[in-house]
Amino acid sequence: MKGKFITFEGCEGVGKSRQIKLLEEYLVKNGIQYYLTREPGGTEISEQIRAIILDGKNLAMTDECEALLYAAARVQLIKEEIEPRLKRGELVFCDRYVDSSLAYQGKARGLGYDFIRNINAYACDNFMPDLTIFLNLSPEDAFKRKGGADSADRLEISGMEFHKRVYAGYLELAGKNPERFAVIDASGTKEQTSGKIVAVLKEKGII
Ligand code: TYD
Repeated sequence: MKGKFITFEGCEGVGKSRQIKLLEEYLVKNGIQYYLTREPGGTEISEQIRAIILDGKNLAMTDECEALLYAAARVQLIKEEIEPRLKRGELVFCDRYVDSSLAYQGKARGLGYDFIRNINAYACDNFMPDLTIFLNLSPEDAFKRKGGADSADRLEISGMEFHKRVYAGYLELAGKNPERFAVIDASGTKEQTSGKIVAVLKEKGII
């Protein structure tokens, strides 16, 4: 694969969307070509799957069903957008990827990492990120900064205990994959965090 594949991960409210916007501004200003997508979503079919997963009315959805839907949305995105672009040598950023499934479904919902790895093996085997930028902020600090859970979607109302387990999952994943994970302290100002992200992308020779 010729291109570079970079993913963003983090708990709710860490400022991930804001950081991705700031990175985009930097890339545009510096004339760096890139493609940005997000999970779950990024294709017409994957966005439809996203709507089912995040629909607040779907409270009866089993954890296994949820995990499989994330994997289904993912394989569609990989085949339609990510794989062809990496083959063409493009720089591809993705807002969340399989580490989200490992942390949210594997760790926090208790399905286990092996279950998530198994159902994602077909989709993701050859498409692990060159670099995963993990925005490191505890859920307590993230929620304080955000002003509490303000979204009605099913995941965000799951409560602090759930988010703490997600965070613990991410720390485990980062610990086990130190060469792939860049752990970025996200407790400072948005400009400081943005500077750290740009610095790590430069250091790794990605931009
Ligand atoms: P989104 O509104 O995009 O949240 P964020 O801005 O935090 O990325 O919703 C995505 C939600 O889906 C988020 O709560 C994390 C969750 N998610 C999983 O639980 N598993 C996954 O595999 C993915 C990709 C996302």
